[in-house]
Parts: sequence; structure tokens; C-alpha cells
Amino acid sequence: MEINNTFISTKTQISINNYLENSTNKENINEILKGLFAEHKYISSKYFYDKAGSKLFEEITHLPEYYPTRTEKAILRNFAPQIAKTLENVDIIELGSGDCSKISILLEAVPPENLGSIRYIPVDVSHSAILKSSKMLIEKFPAITINGLVADFLNHLNIIPNDANRLFCFFGSTLGNFTRKQSIQFLLDLKKCMRHGDQLLLGLDMVKDTAVVENAYNDKQGITAAFNKNIVNVINRIAHTDLEAESFEHMAFYNGCECRIEMHLKALKKIEVYCPDSDKNIIFKKGETIHTENSHKYTERYILNFAALSGLTINNIYSDANKWFSVVHFIY
Ligand code: AVJ
Repeated sequence: MEINNTFISTKTQISINNYLENSTNKENINEILKGLFAEHKYISSKYFYDKAGSKLFEEITHLPEYYPTRTEKAILRNFAPQIAKTLENVDIIELGSGDCSKISILLEAVPPENLGSIRYIPVDVSHSAILKSSKMLIEKFPAITINGLVADFLNHLNIIPNDANRLFCFFGSTLGNFTRKQSIQFLLDLKKCMRHGDQLLLGLDMVKDTAVVENAYNDKQGITAAFNKNIVNVINRIAHTDLEAESFEHMAFYNGCECRIEMHLKALKKIEVYCPDSDKNIIFKKGETIHTENSHKYTERYILNFAALSGLTINNIYSDANKWFSVVHFIY
């Protein structure tokens, strides 16, 4: 009986709006082909996260070498009580919510009597990720309301509700996937949609010993390699091509000039495949690469610069003892 009740309340307190349904597959095909026919081949790292890719990423977050997730969660656990005090009658908007385990840490610190006044709005490109994590979250915190948005937060900031005070959360150093220029533009856009009383928690991976960072993207078990190669399957599915993931080698290295990890896939042989959506074949020379991801690392100076350029005020910078990761608390 009780299980049934939970199920009913789950159904009534979770809603998900999909803003990606109307974005045509054609736009994705064109975006992917543009990158594959470029002089230096590239693909947006948002394409990593199909079902298999999301699962591989989850595995990455538990790897001994991959310090960011574990470090950020420890930081959140430490300062959650401070933030949680402000969480009453608020909408918590999490951009790139993934598995919701980070928001869970914040909610655990909220006085139980306040949970009913909180609405959680996960924004993610993956409908299945939002649904799965929302169900888990509502089991744990039955009093909250969840209103998920399936959207690409880079283009859809305007759909975020603004009828309450809001805490924006952008964890995981996902901002690091953007170029420096894009990340500043993104913060400016975010600031434009924020109002007085709104807050932002921004998780950023910091510059550190190169070996530590490179190991995090070259794990011994090869999970990161599998994650990187899985994007080939995504390309095939969207662009109707016939590339073989195993024809590519995983590469991840630290680019010291740009302070970022770059991931590439390197063709192990000459490859030529038919591409039904183009009049040209896709051709890789042996050794040619596709640039699949940038993961920028930050310094305190950079964080201060973010604040200066975006006009947001830094309330606090929370870090671990090694300063490997930071969660910046901005207020408007
Ligand atoms: C989810 C973008 C933060 O850059 O560390 C993990 C993705 N790529 N291992 C990161 C990722 C390879 C991750 N972000």
C-alpha cells in the first residue's frame, strides 16, 4: 500500500517539459557534419551524453583517478549547512543536472520543515536522466516539487521560471567545456536572466599538477577511452554514417597554454565512409584527429576575472584543502 502511495505522489510532484522535441534532427546532422568536414575535425562534447555515454560518465565519476566529482561533493558537504539556511521558498535550478547526487547533498542540509517550500528544476539534455534522477530524489525528499526541463541550457535560459527567488547551480566544472570566450558570454547571459536575491553556485576544476589532471582523463581501466570513443556511435546514429569506434584511439593531454585538457580521437588508419546526408564521403587520413572535448581548468585570478566581467558578486569561494576544486558562491 505504501509503495503505491509513494508512486502516486511521485507522479503528481514530478513534471518534465521537453524543449528539445521540436529541435529537428536536421540541425544536429548539420552541426555534426560541419565539424567532420572542417580542416581540423571537431564535434561538440554535448554529443557524449547518449544513454551509453551518460552511463560511462557516471562510471568515470567513481574512478580513483577522476578526482573532480569526489572533491566537489566533499566541498558541498562541508558548506551545505551555510547555503541551506537560505533555502526557503526558492526554486533551485540545476544546469546539467545529471544524476542529481549533488543537489541531494544540499537538500540533506535543509531543515525538513522547509523542504515543502522548495521547487527543484533540473535542466538537462537527457530526458531519461531527469526522469530517473527525479524519481530517486523524490523518494528521498518527498516534500519537494520537481519540474524538470529537457533543454540545452546554452540556448534555453529564457525558459527558466522567474516567479520565486532562485538558486542556480552549475556544478561539475561543466563550464570548462566552453571556450573562455563562450564561458564569459554564458555568465553574462545567466546574469541577464538573474534578479536581485538570486544566487549562483559554480563548480570549477582548478589548475594543478599536470600529472594529476592527465591521469584523471587517462584512467587505467580505459573507461574514459570508452566514453570518448562512444561519441563515434552517436555520430553514426545521427548522421547515418558507418564509422567504427575501434578505428580510433583515445587521446587526452593537458594543453598548458590554454590551461585545459583536450580530448581527441585519432584515426588508427585511413578511413573513408559514405555519408548519405552529404555529397562527399567523410575521409580521415591515418593519424588525423577529431577534437571531442576541452575541459578548462581555472585559477583564483580567473574566478575574480569572471566576477569582474559578468558583474556578479562573489560571496564566497569554497575549496578543498589541496585547492583542487572550487565552488564559487555568487550573489546578484
Ligand atoms: C562533465 C565536462 C565536467 O570535463 O571532466 C570526464 C567530462 N570528460 N572525463 C570533464 C569528462 C572526460 C567532464 N565534464
